[in-house]
Amino acid sequence: MKIKQLIVIGALVALQGRLLAQSENVLVVHADAGKDTISRFIYGQFAEHLGHGIYGGLWVGEKSAIPNTRGIRTDVLDALRKIKVPAIRWPGGCFADEYHWRDGIGPRASRPRMVNSNWGGVTEDNSFGTHEFMDLCEQLGSEPVICGNIGSGSVKEMADWVQYMTSAGENPMSALRRSNGRNAPWTVRFWCVGNETFGCGGIMDAAHYANEFARYSFFLKDFDGNRLYKISSGGLPEDYAWTETIMKKWRETDGWLQGFLSGYSLHYYTVDDWNHKGSATAFEERDWFTSLSRTLKMEELIQRHSAIMDTYDAGKRIGLIVDEWGNWFDVEPGTNPGFLFQQNTLRDAVVAAVNLNLFHKYCSRVKLTSIAQMVNVLQAMILTRDKEMLLTPTYYVYKMYTVHQDAVMLPVDLQSGTCTNGGKTIPALSASASRDKNGKVHLSIANLDPAHAQSVRCTLAGAKTTAVTGEVIAGPAMNAHNEFGKPEAVTIAPFNGATIENGVITLTLPAHAVVTLEVR
Ligand code: AHR
Repeated sequence: MKIKQLIVIGALVALQGRLLAQSENVLVVHADAGKDTISRFIYGQFAEHLGHGIYGGLWVGEKSAIPNTRGIRTDVLDALRKIKVPAIRWPGGCFADEYHWRDGIGPRASRPRMVNSNWGGVTEDNSFGTHEFMDLCEQLGSEPVICGNIGSGSVKEMADWVQYMTSAGENPMSALRRSNGRNAPWTVRFWCVGNETFGCGGIMDAAHYANEFARYSFFLKDFDGNRLYKISSGGLPEDYAWTETIMKKWRETDGWLQGFLSGYSLHYYTVDDWNHKGSATAFEERDWFTSLSRTLKMEELIQRHSAIMDTYDAGKRIGLIVDEWGNWFDVEPGTNPGFLFQQNTLRDAVVAAVNLNLFHKYCSRVKLTSIAQMVNVLQAMILTRDKEMLLTPTYYVYKMYTVHQDAVMLPVDLQSGTCTNGGKTIPALSASASRDKNGKVHLSIANLDPAHAQSVRCTLAGAKTTAVTGEVIAGPAMNAHNEFGKPEAVTIAPFNGATIENGVITLTLPAHAVVTLEVR
């Protein structure tokens, strides 16, 4: 889109905001009280062997007519570089517990095929394996988050994978890696010891898994300066007893089993009724309220899991790792139900912003997250159709929010009005703020009201404010989205609607929109 067009959109959006503003909200940013850093790993992504998440979406192979860099789509790589993907979780998900990593190394033509029984029963030819994934990470400057197979694997299989990837020494696995063309080991920090082990990862109970986790962890070694950050599977989102069991095991063993546990996983999807998830694009205001109310539950989950973790780990050594989250809707009509391919609207943008604002707020405990998923699956950044590619409203939130990566979180007090529909009441706004390494303060605010603009007065306690600029993600309707072959309906536009008077910033956010301000 041309700059002129963007400026016109920005001006229209600001005007729409002023005309429709319903109520005033008050935001105080404690610019002098920042102490915790928003880890960039909060902006991680999840890429599972599921539908076209890998094949077609990322991997097309070197001989493809689609432009690629060593088999990986160049258009997708270019787009992902712009959102600074810090970490990618792979190969699943449920897929991880049927994945045997040795099937995905060596000459591609001789790799065994398998059936992806979790996701559509399609043939998996293993052409995207360890080396291809690590090449993706290297091309994007991302760290890998490997999810090991406990469900159908073995301790030896997982320990060998660690050795294959990270050992520089003389041993069978590094020799195998060298024979496959990679001399130097990779650095691999983040390692999930199983996925959803209460369900598709092995149907275990917490006590059984805690023992399995300890056994596996013990044999996953740190080679040659590589330090593994071992992540335990969590239970169902509200299974607080599971958290208690793992933390208790940690207390019992950490004295002699150093590094047994570094992170604890929480998975939570924005779904109200798993049997009626609803359309990603054809929805009404009451569905909007349902999605936003379900999203806001993330705060309670973080608080309650953190409270248990705090009783064992007051120093916050162990990270809460929200390594699967996001909207889960019905698949697009006519697509394979096992492929989880869904469109993405301004509702997704606001849901992403609300979650990210919460992760900022609790960044002293939340150390890494991965939205599900990166390309073509669930709440994706990018959708592809053969050689076409589009960027979703969620992508634009991630792009706009890059300013918060590794910045110091500034606590906010938000007195927000509310909005109500169908018996559900939600706050009108969600906000977070940070100060980056150059001293710039960034303030992100989402308008959760699907129908009305919202005014807000902001002050920065402990800082002088002399100038403000901004960007906005907005659109004509709450279900605005980008479509293949059409001009973008949702993108980032300049936001000129914020003014400063006597140190108070005043702005009006359009309905169903997300704004980020830079304050100097
Ligand atoms: O993201 C899709 C699936 O959701 C993952 O494979 C699984 O871990 C979760 O239940």
